[in-house]
Amino acid sequence: MALFQKKADYQVDMDHLPQHIAIIMDGNGRWAKKRGLPRTAGHAAGAETFRTVATFAKDIGLQYLTVYAFSTENWKRPPEEVAAIMSLLEKYLHEAIGRMARDKVKMAFFGDLSPLAPKLQTLCHETEEISKGYDGCQVNICLNYGGRDEVMRAAMAYAQACVEGRADPNHLTQEQFGNWLYSAGIPDPDLIIRPSGEQRISNFLLWQCAYAEFYYTDVLWPDFSKDELLKAIASYQNRSRRYGGI
Ligand code: IPE
Ligand code: IPE
Ligand code: MG
Repeated sequence: MALFQKKADYQVDMDHLPQHIAIIMDGNGRWAKKRGLPRTAGHAAGAETFRTVATFAKDIGLQYLTVYAFSTENWKRPPEEVAAIMSLLEKYLHEAIGRMARDKVKMAFFGDLSPLAPKLQTLCHETEEISKGYDGCQVNICLNYGGRDEVMRAAMAYAQACVEGRADPNHLTQEQFGNWLYSAGIPDPDLIIRPSGEQRISNFLLWQCAYAEFYYTDVLWPDFSKDELLKAIASYQNRSRRYGGI
C-alpha cells in the first residue's frame, strides 16, 4: 500500500484515492482584504492556487477534479470584479492551451457559456476540443454554473425530447436523467471540499452531491495547498460511506 505521510498528522493511502473531488474555490476576497489588497488580487492568487492544485491532482493520479469558478449568482458582484475574474480565466485558458500537449489534462466546462464574452467562449471550446482525446485526469471548470440551473435545463431538454418523440415521458431512470446534465458520463463527486470557513453548498452540484462526503476548512482558497488537499483526502479515507445501508 503506497502511503503518503506528513509528520504523522495525517496519512493518505495513495492507492485508494477518491475517484472524483470537487472544490468550491472560496475565500479569495477575504484573503485579499486581510492583506489590504483589492479583491481582484485575491482572485489572481486563487487562480495560482487552482493551477497548483490541478497539477498536483493530475500528478497523484486523480481521475476527476471539478472546480467552482463562477456561479450563476456571482453576476451580482460589481462589474469590475466580474470583468477581472473573466480576464483571469482568459489568461489561464491561454496558458493551459499552450501546456496541453505536455500536461494531457482533459478539460471540460459545466455551465451556460453563452453570456460570456465571445473570445472567452471560443477559448473554452478550443480547450475542450484540443483535450478531447486525452484520457488522464479530467478537470471540469464550473463557469456561470448553478446546480438549480443545471437541473432545470436538463428538465427542459428532456421535456423537449419527449415532445419530439426522442424520449418516453413514462420511463425515466435517475441514470438516464443524469445524462441530460453537464456532468453526463462523469461519476458523482466522492468528496466536496469547501475552504474559507463557510459550510454551505451555494448551488454547487445539487444533483450530483447526493452521497458526497463534505470537507470544510477555514483555510482561504489562495492559501490552500497540496498539503491541504492531502489532508482532505485523509479525512475522506477515514469515513464510512453507507449510502443508506448499514
Ligand atoms: C471565490 O472567492 C471566488 C468567486 C466566487 C468567483 P470570493 O470572491 O467569494 O471570496 P470571499 O468569499 O469574498 O472571501
Ligand atoms: C461560491 O462562492 C461560488 C464560487 C466559489 C465560484 P460564493 O462566495 O459565491 O458563495 P456564497 O455567496 O458565500 O454562498
Ligand atoms: Mg465567497
